[in-house]
Amino acid sequence: MSLKTQLLSAQCSTDLTQAAELLKAGEQVAVPTETVYGLAADASNPDAVAGIFTAKGRPANHPLIVHLGDVASITEWATQIPDEAYKLANAFWPGPMTLLLPRAEHVSPVVTGGLDTIGLRVPAQPVLLDLLASHQLAVAAPSANPYKKLSPTTAEQVMHGLGGKIAAVIDGGPCQHGLESTIVDLTKRPFRVLRAGPITASELSTVLGETVDAPEQHDTVVPGNVGSHYQPNTRLQMVAADLSDLPAPHPEKRAALLHFGEAPTRDDLVCIAMPDDAARYGQALYHQLAQADQLGVDEIWLAQPPHGEAWLAVHDRLRRAVS
Ligand code: TXA
Ligand code: MG
Repeated sequence: MSLKTQLLSAQCSTDLTQAAELLKAGEQVAVPTETVYGLAADASNPDAVAGIFTAKGRPANHPLIVHLGDVASITEWATQIPDEAYKLANAFWPGPMTLLLPRAEHVSPVVTGGLDTIGLRVPAQPVLLDLLASHQLAVAAPSANPYKKLSPTTAEQVMHGLGGKIAAVIDGGPCQHGLESTIVDLTKRPFRVLRAGPITASELSTVLGETVDAPEQHDTVVPGNVGSHYQPNTRLQMVAADLSDLPAPHPEKRAALLHFGEAPTRDDLVCIAMPDDAARYGQALYHQLAQADQLGVDEIWLAQPPHGEAWLAVHDRLRRAVS
C-alpha cells in the first residue's frame, strides 16, 4: 500500500498542529531530532507503534526509544528509577542521551520488543520538544531509515527511504549531531554505555562521580545492535588516512572518496572532503555517505578517521557500515 507522504514544515504552526493530529490519530510521522530523523508514533498506542515496524521492515523484537517532553515524565514509563538517572537527566537532557531503565508495568511489549527495560530520552530539537510538551505526547521513534540502511539526517533522505510508507515528514533542516544518541544502561552496575554517541562515557562519569563503562565494541546482546547496519547500497571500504593504500585506477570503474586534507587528482574519483573535527565529522558522515551512494559510483572509499574517545561513535557506526 502506498500513502501520499506529506512534507510538513517545522516553521509552520498549522503544519505542526497537523503533525500532532496525525500522531494522536495513530499515524507514523518522521520528526527531526538533534541526532538523526526519527520515525515517530504515539508510544501509548500499540497499533500506532506496530506501524513503525511495518514501515521500516524492522524485526518486531528490536526495542524502540520513547521520546518525552520533560524529565518528570520518566516516572510514567519507567520504574525503580535510581538517583543517577536524575543526575544524568539534569545534566544532559534535553539532549542526545538515552537512559535504559526498568519499564513501567503498563508499557506495551510492542514498544520494548518484549524486554523488561525501556530506553527513554528528552530530545533537544526545539520544534519536536515543543510538540511533545505542548500536546503531552510521548513518541516511540527509531531512526527513520528502512531497516539496516543509513540513518537520515535530512527530511529529503527520509522521503527517499520511507516516502509512500508513512503519513508525513516534518522538515526541520539538517540534524545537529548527525549520529544517534548515546545509550546508557542504568539497570545494572557498573553502569555502561551500550551505544557510543555524542555524549562520551567520560562526560557521564564526571557527572556521576563514578566510572561508566564504555566497551570498545557495540554490545551485540541488544537486539537491534546487529553487525551489519547503517549500510549504504554501494560497497564501502576503508582506506588508510594518508591514502597510501588507495586502489589503482580501474579503466571502467569510478569511486567516491571521503578523505581528509588535499584531494588526490584522479579522474576516476569523486572526492568529498571530510571535517577533521570529530563532532563535525559525525554530523557529516551519514549525509556524505548518502550523497556518495546516490552518485552511482562502483565503490565508496573512506579514509580511516583518527582514534580516541571523541571518535568512538564514528568508529562504531563505520565498523558496521563497511561491506
Ligand atoms: O538518537 C537516537 O537515539 C535516535 C533518535 C531518533 O532519537 N533513535 C535511534 O533509535 O537511534 P534506533 O531504534 O534506530 O536505535 C535504538 C537502539 C537500538 O539498537 C535498540 O536495540 C536499542 O536502542 N534499545 C532501545 N530500547 C532498548 C532496550 N529496552 N534495551 C536494550 N536496547 C534498547
Ligand atoms: Mg537505527
